[in-house]
Amino acid sequence: MRAICPGSFDPVTHGHLDVVVRASRMFDEVLVAVGRNSAKNYLFSPDERAAMLADATSELPNVRVDLLDGLLVDYCREREIDVIVKGLRFAGDFEFELQMAQMNFALSGIETIMLPTAAKWAHLSSTMIREVAKLGGDVTQFVTPAVAERIRDKMATDNQGGRA
Ligand code: PNS
Repeated sequence: MRAICPGSFDPVTHGHLDVVVRASRMFDEVLVAVGRNSAKNYLFSPDERAAMLADATSELPNVRVDLLDGLLVDYCREREIDVIVKGLRFAGDFEFELQMAQMNFALSGIETIMLPTAAKWAHLSSTMIREVAKLGGDVTQFVTPAVAERIRDKMATDNQGGRA
């Protein structure tokens, strides 16, 4: 079976990777899809987010990274993807994910399965990592070394360019 792990991944964290690794053990093929949600203000471009994911998942032979444009269910239909996999950190995630799962099912009949995030990473969010990094905090324990370096580079560039 073919599964998809969609998300913003801005940037990918150990929490995301935990879910991707577990999905890769459950399904024949896993597509990690980097979405562009127009309501969000991203730190990294879609290409940068996809590159960080490709690097972080390079050891997983059945995992591929792609960019997601348009509706997730259309993407899944075109690529014959059977299941959407989402990670759940806490009850708040569930409410939103349930609504999305029900909408996606109503639109296309695709199933969503939700994996509880490892407790170790339950406090992580890309939003918080961006905030900590912007304010000069150390985020190295939450992301891969390559992602930490990209964050450092981004902060240095943004500070030079006058972006907070
Ligand atoms: O990491 P995020 O920001 O929670 O990921 C959100 C994402 C990309 C999974 C979601 O915005 C999405 O599925 N976007 C594709 C557009 C779409 O199908 N929207 C309707 C969802 S019910």
